[in-house]
Amino acid sequence: MASTFDDIGSGCVVVFLHGFPFNRSMWREQTDFLSAQGYRCVAPDLRGLGEDKSTNDVNTMEDMARDVAALMDELTIDKAAICGLSMGCYVAFEFVHLFPTRVRALVLAGGRCEGPDKAERQAREQQAKRVLEQGFTPSVESILQSLLSPRTLANKADVVARVRAMVKSTDPLGAAAAQRGMAARRNYCGDLAQISVPTLIVAGRDDGVRKPIDAETIHRGIKSSQLEIINHAGHLMNMEQPEAFNRVMSQFVEQLNQ
Ligand code: MLT
Repeated sequence: MASTFDDIGSGCVVVFLHGFPFNRSMWREQTDFLSAQGYRCVAPDLRGLGEDKSTNDVNTMEDMARDVAALMDELTIDKAAICGLSMGCYVAFEFVHLFPTRVRALVLAGGRCEGPDKAERQAREQQAKRVLEQGFTPSVESILQSLLSPRTLANKADVVARVRAMVKSTDPLGAAAAQRGMAARRNYCGDLAQISVPTLIVAGRDDGVRKPIDAETIHRGIKSSQLEIINHAGHLMNMEQPEAFNRVMSQFVEQLNQ
């Protein structure tokens, strides 16, 4: 079970799954906003990340999905809308595959469904070794350049500082285990036709990590999905353009109550 999590508000439940190499604090603007709108927002630190201190060599997307189910059991939550960003999308794909009856709806942000090829697996292993040897300090500035949109980098020093601090605080052991877990993930494209819950797919127009075309592929595969593209946002679209992200998300979850 995820050992550290936020659980704010009451009402229909939305579970937020963070990306890599981040932690549950990346969802602060969404959990504050939606809890004030009458939702219960649960945001765990995924295995080995944030304040979760698991020390496995590999943390798979399935391990993380099972942790989320165990946390929901613990909190006596039967069913929830599951919202993931990037690595959180891989975990959401595993979750809906393993526990389809526990998913009321999906929000997939900055995601893709393709599995890793040999080159990606090798690159992830190299990155895992590098982070174990050096931590994130030498690479953090180039990570920020690839994660954030030009507008965020130029105009939103507070967001840049928050993301920098979040990356630098990530435990190298947990980061390497998550990299190895992502290297071992399945190809989720074959699962898409099975997904029948309402699904919101969100992409940042300037995302260089997962391009809007990746979101379009997921959108084509899930019949019950809608696609929203957020302007002036990169990979961390929910932090870069929180008002726009919250707007599309609250319109989506509102429909679930009708
Ligand atoms: C993330 O933001 O979670 C990562 O970009 C995921 C990945 O490396 O595929």
